[in-house]
Amino acid sequence: MTTIIDVNNIYKKFGRPKSRQWWQKFGKNSANGNGAKPDESLSAPVIALDNINFQVQAGEIFGVLGPNGSGKSTLIRLMATLLLADGGSIKVDGLDPAEDTLKVQELINRVSVEASFFKKLSPMENLMFGARLYGLNGSEVRKRVVEILTRLGLEKRNIYNPMEEMSRGMQQKVAIARALLSRPKILLLDEPTTGLDPVSKREVQAVVQELKEKDGTTILLTTHDMMEAEKLCDRVAIIHKGKLIALDTPEALKQMAPRMNGHLPSLEDVFIHLTGDKLKEEQKDDPDAAQAIAKALTEALGQKKAEAQPVAELD
Ligand SMILES: Nc1ncnc2c1ncn2[C@@H]1O[C@H](COP(=O)(O)OP(=O)(O)OP(=O)(O)O)[C@@H](O)[C@H]1O
Ligand SMILES: [Mg+2]
Repeated sequence: MTTIIDVNNIYKKFGRPKSRQWWQKFGKNSANGNGAKPDESLSAPVIALDNINFQVQAGEIFGVLGPNGSGKSTLIRLMATLLLADGGSIKVDGLDPAEDTLKVQELINRVSVEASFFKKLSPMENLMFGARLYGLNGSEVRKRVVEILTRLGLEKRNIYNPMEEMSRGMQQKVAIARALLSRPKILLLDEPTTGLDPVSKREVQAVVQELKEKDGTTILLTTHDMMEAEKLCDRVAIIHKGKLIALDTPEALKQMAPRMNGHLPSLEDVFIHLTGDKLKEEQKDDPDAAQAIAKALTEALGQKKAEAQPVAELD
């Protein structure tokens, strides 16, 4: 077994103050001339990764599980040369992403949920553009684009329609196809199946499995789908609040939670047991923000009333 990604004591902190939301400009926490100090927590640094160590072996599918905000995407962005660490080191096939940036970029490709495209152009045009950046061109590549996209379950007619007419799930498949065009040695997939319907999910999972088996691609993927982790991954790391709390094969991880009525727990049971958190779907509503808005509005309305100003001025 050869180590292809070596994560050594990696530490990443985000220290920039958070930008203040409009509702935070009202009320007690504002420094709006009434002498009140801003809330200290607004500028508190976030430790996204707290001295994490692990190695990914060449040719394996390595899963990273963790609750929202646990540091998964940060980890991937560090490997993908998009961020610099504050401590420790990462080696990708023996190279340092911070120093050998171009060489690392040739080895890896990353797919994230927020992939960007030329929305007016079709998947074919976007992928041909992407291919050219890797020095690929010609009818062979066009054939390969069609092959990969249809393999991922995209209908042929969509290949030539503008991206803006496609659903998010379809766009996600195009993002995955783009990452596969250059046949990378290492593929970093940040939530590759989030938002996909069950059939699409299976299509993407089958392609991931095939990449490992046929091409020997090393794949590091993050997911919130425990079944996916169990089905695809040779080993799974669980991170929580920037710390690595478990790393093993799905089978071995399942021994870590207590048995229920004599049955082996699922990976989800293990996850919940270890993190103490409930796994959530992508949270669309932010209850904290909603509460803060309600509070700020109440306070602002009180102020405005006292100043006998019309409420409409709040806009
Ligand atoms: N650019 C940034 N600036 C400031 N803080 C950041 C930045 N990127 C990430 N963070 C913070 O770092 C922590 C880890 O974020 P990260 O995106 O890595 O989590 P995640 O595990 O990918 O979460 P999710 O499951 O929601 O995608 C969070 O607290 C997040 O707010
Ligand atoms: Mg993420």
